[in-house]
Amino acid sequence: MNLTSLLPLALTLLCIVPGHIANPAPHYPALSPLVARSPGGALPAAPYSVGFSRKVPRRKEKINALSALCGHGGSGHGAKPGSQTTVPLAGSNFDSDYLVNVTIGGQNFSLILDSGSADTWVPQQGFQCFNLTGSPVPPATCNFGTTGFNVNESKTFEPFPNVSFNITYGTSEFVAGPVGFDTVSVGGLEVSQQVVPLPNVAAWLGDGILSGIIGLAFPDETSLFNTTEPTTATKQNHIPYDPLFFTAVKQKKVKHPFFSIALNRPTPDQEEHDAYDPNLGILAFGGIADVPVLHNTSTTVAVQEFTSNATKADEKFFWYTIPIDSYNFPGSKNVPEARNASLGNGTTILDTGTAVNRIPGPVAAAYAAAFDPPAELTSIAGLSLYLAQCNATVPPFSVTIGGQAFSMDPRDQLLPVVTDEQGDVVCVLGTQAQQGAPDLSKDFHLLGDTFFHNVVTTFNPIDKEVTLTQRVAY
Ligand SMILES: *[C@@H]1O[C@H](CO)[C@@H](O)[C@H](O)[C@H]1NC(C)=O
Ligand SMILES: *[C@@H]1O[C@H](CO)[C@@H](O)[C@H](O)[C@H]1NC(C)=O
Ligand SMILES: *[C@@H]1O[C@H](CO)[C@@H](O)[C@H](O)[C@H]1NC(C)=O
Ligand SMILES: *[C@@H]1O[C@H](CO)[C@@H](O)[C@H](O)[C@H]1NC(C)=O
Ligand SMILES: *[C@@H]1O[C@H](CO)[C@@H](O)[C@H](O)[C@H]1NC(C)=O
Ligand SMILES: *[C@@H]1O[C@H](CO)[C@@H](O)[C@H](O)[C@H]1NC(C)=O
Ligand SMILES: *[C@@H]1O[C@H](CO)[C@@H](O)[C@H](O)[C@H]1NC(C)=O
Ligand SMILES: *[C@@H]1O[C@H](CO)[C@@H](O)[C@H](O)[C@H]1NC(C)=O
Ligand SMILES: *[C@@H]1O[C@H](CO)[C@@H](O)[C@H](O)[C@H]1NC(C)=O
Ligand SMILES: *[C@@H]1O[C@H](CO)[C@@H](O)[C@H](O)[C@H]1NC(C)=O
Ligand SMILES: *[C@@H]1O[C@H](CO)[C@@H](O)[C@H](O)[C@H]1NC(C)=O
Ligand SMILES: *[C@@H]1O[C@H](CO)[C@@H](O)[C@H](O)[C@H]1NC(C)=O
Repeated sequence: MNLTSLLPLALTLLCIVPGHIANPAPHYPALSPLVARSPGGALPAAPYSVGFSRKVPRRKEKINALSALCGHGGSGHGAKPGSQTTVPLAGSNFDSDYLVNVTIGGQNFSLILDSGSADTWVPQQGFQCFNLTGSPVPPATCNFGTTGFNVNESKTFEPFPNVSFNITYGTSEFVAGPVGFDTVSVGGLEVSQQVVPLPNVAAWLGDGILSGIIGLAFPDETSLFNTTEPTTATKQNHIPYDPLFFTAVKQKKVKHPFFSIALNRPTPDQEEHDAYDPNLGILAFGGIADVPVLHNTSTTVAVQEFTSNATKADEKFFWYTIPIDSYNFPGSKNVPEARNASLGNGTTILDTGTAVNRIPGPVAAAYAAAFDPPAELTSIAGLSLYLAQCNATVPPFSVTIGGQAFSMDPRDQLLPVVTDEQGDVVCVLGTQAQQGAPDLSKDFHLLGDTFFHNVVTTFNPIDKEVTLTQRVAY
């Protein structure tokens, strides 16, 4: 295995933001006290659910590949709108996005599931397309899956006067423009009068399928501004609004304020060959997603607040940030930051979109060393990543949250996504050091898809809690 010149195998596992890389978190969360109820009471079954129906065709261009991995997480409030804040996030698998069918004003779109941003948007017909540095290019270059939303064809559309939308994602992709209200339905859940940004300006690295994002994070993570001119968006004129699920709760469309996500682990064969995969998991509303789970592992923890000067409680929440008790693997007892993750000083976001886990450096290093043969820290395209032979023995790994250990399948720890000079496939570890991620600020950790393949995550954004439940091995 020659690791000196690793090449992406169709798609890489890197998350490199072209151009400059910025701080994802405008301010850091205070470690609020852990509220654990372990084991939790049984969650209700979800009355509404929808499959992740499509997998994006393998992206050809490197930049697209990288953006697939980076996701489309939102720019943080408090950051300058339009600044290149990088939040990991939108549903990306190694090379795919988790897509959900959504109907807006009677028009169908395939949207990226994103627990890391809060706006649910689609471009409007006639939008102008730009490249990432802002030069106009033909609309087809943005490569959305549709020509966009046609305001005139919706019977339920109403404009939202005197405001605008403006967001730049970690990939440098940006969208901006006017905003409306319309009826949105997903998985049988229908909300009316939902705020829907309808950008008429887009710089987007599309794939011919997806046409926007369904954002499930908190109101303060939305990107609406009290100005008709999106170029003048500032923190001062930011006006938070209720994201889709918050509207559903207010309209009493769900009895229980849960949305629940089960992301399926694709097989290596699917990763390599499938352009379409109808079985990538479930997004459910009103209860827990219906996949086999070990109910006795169900554990509920409080979402941590962000430190801020906000006066309203909701303004203290942006993403699903939770306390980690410990990381457990052979040798972890010798690593203080693994034994007691509070020692890492950081914060950990549950991000159903980012491909791999990004954990404190000393913990990731000790885990890499426990592989047989050990994983090596390797510089690839300017990034330090732990790589291992794909036939390496994977040490068992679990993450304790709210007193409950959630184990990860070994298949989620060795991802066959790069090739070496000889064309041999090399594996990237599914758990990486936070330091390996230039797009993430120090002490900003996350559990990504590789973790979420093993659990059902049920979010309660109203009471600011998250319930994790171990899935039956599959
Ligand atoms: C999503 O929409 C596409 C295109 O209409 C359809 O082929 C697919 O079956 C839908 N998926 C689900 C889960 O409804
Ligand atoms: C939109 O999707 C719904 C539900 O899948 C389907 O019944 C309807 O025919 C679709 N409409 C169009 C215009 O494709
Ligand atoms: C955008 O287009 C301009 C003009 O063609 C070009 O100079 C610039 O390099 C392009 N930027 C990107 C990111 O492709
Ligand atoms: C919608 O109708 C308005 C007014 O008739 C028109 O100017 C606009 O081009 C139409 N938009 C689309 C997308 O057809
Ligand atoms: C929007 O702004 C215009 C111009 O300032 C004003 O006349 C109008 O009343 C505003 N509309 C709403 C709904 O606030
Ligand atoms: C938006 O700006 C207008 C004009 O400055 C002001 O009258 C209005 O109160 C603002 N609304 C909000 C929600 O900040
Ligand atoms: C978004 O807002 C920023 C200012 O915060 C501005 O520089 C940028 O041009 C705006 N983007 C668009 C597409 O209007
Ligand atoms: C949960 O139940 C499974 C069998 O359903 C059992 O093997 C496991 O030990 C139980 N775990 C706990 C923490 O009780
Ligand atoms: C909070 O307020 C203090 C004092 O006004 C200020 O120095 C600080 O920058 C503010 N912090 C944030 C995150 O806005
Ligand atoms: C973990 O470390 C933090 C910070 O030093 C400390 O406050 C806490 O008591 C420790 N927890 C355990 C279980 O040792
Ligand atoms: C956490 O913060 C303490 C106090 O600032 C510092 O001594 C320690 O090195 C930090 N730990 C890590 C892992 O960054
Ligand atoms: C593991 O794969 C490497 C090539 O990547 C090969 O040299 C080695 O023999 C394999 N080991 C086993 C035990 O199969």
